[in-house]
Amino acid sequence: MGGMSDDPKPQKQKPWSDIDLNRWRDYDEIKTDSLWLYNNRASGDGHRLDYHGNYIPQLATQLFTRYSKKDEIVLDLFLGSGTSAIEAVRLDRRCIGVELKPELVAYVRSKIDSRQLDNRIHLLQGNSAEPAVVESVQHTLRLMQAELAQLLILHPPYADIIRFSDNTDDLSNATTTEAFLDGFQAVAKNGYDLLAPGRFAALIIGDKYAKGELIPLGFWCMERMNRVGFKTKAIIVKNIEGNEKGKGKDANLWRYRALAGGYYIFKHEYVIIFFKPR
Ligand SMILES: C[S@@+](CC[C@H](N)C(=O)[O-])C[C@H]1O[C@@H](n2cnc3c(N)ncnc32)[C@H](O)[C@@H]1O
Repeated sequence: MGGMSDDPKPQKQKPWSDIDLNRWRDYDEIKTDSLWLYNNRASGDGHRLDYHGNYIPQLATQLFTRYSKKDEIVLDLFLGSGTSAIEAVRLDRRCIGVELKPELVAYVRSKIDSRQLDNRIHLLQGNSAEPAVVESVQHTLRLMQAELAQLLILHPPYADIIRFSDNTDDLSNATTTEAFLDGFQAVAKNGYDLLAPGRFAALIIGDKYAKGELIPLGFWCMERMNRVGFKTKAIIVKNIEGNEKGKGKDANLWRYRALAGGYYIFKHEYVIIFFKPR
């Protein structure tokens, strides 16, 4: 048409995302408010509801899309059953995942396409609180021709709510809340050292009750993230509906206990976003 250029407007992007800010009205699926409500967990594309304690793939979709670019490296220091690795494949990101339980590492390996495995997706067995993990992640980064990761995901055990193993290095076996927080802080410090400056980290965590008292693990872990140098960017509240297999007939019993005990049944957990200053 006369007078109109055929050239599309150049993309306007932040260094940490592929989102084109010139098209900001087009990203309906990207959340920018702090309350995330999901009715169910996404499945398919390699995701399975097969592990008590995994996070819903939609969280990874939101976090990877907003805080990483295609081909960049997502580091997950509590890999579990591999939600981050599977979503990295789907969204064309690379991933390094560390998990303490060898059988889970083997299991996640079996779920990843062999062309991606040990190439774009690296799965390491180790204790993420140990300095040795920093060395093995750095070694893996060099294999991937990178120096640092571009996004950090931390989804630790919520203290002892679910025991993941008998291993004493497992943070879910920490004997006190303080010991759990100290272990978590060691992992956070390792993650900080492995993340590129100016980039983001996400902590996914819920609180717990002990002896009738609320233990605010989310806020205490946030404070430990701040101690190692991360600055807080956002606190998102997410419902846990999508992660449940259904409480079924026990639901009323919990309601009775809540009424009788004066407390509230957890229906939310946190996704806390941080950045590493330049
Ligand atoms: C909440 S789950 C993570 C689930 C994962 N986000 C997923 O979607 O499958 C926490 C995981 O941390 C692992 N873990 C506990 N302590 C660890 C440690 N010190 N180093 C590495 N992994 C650890 C547990 O074995 C468990 O698989």
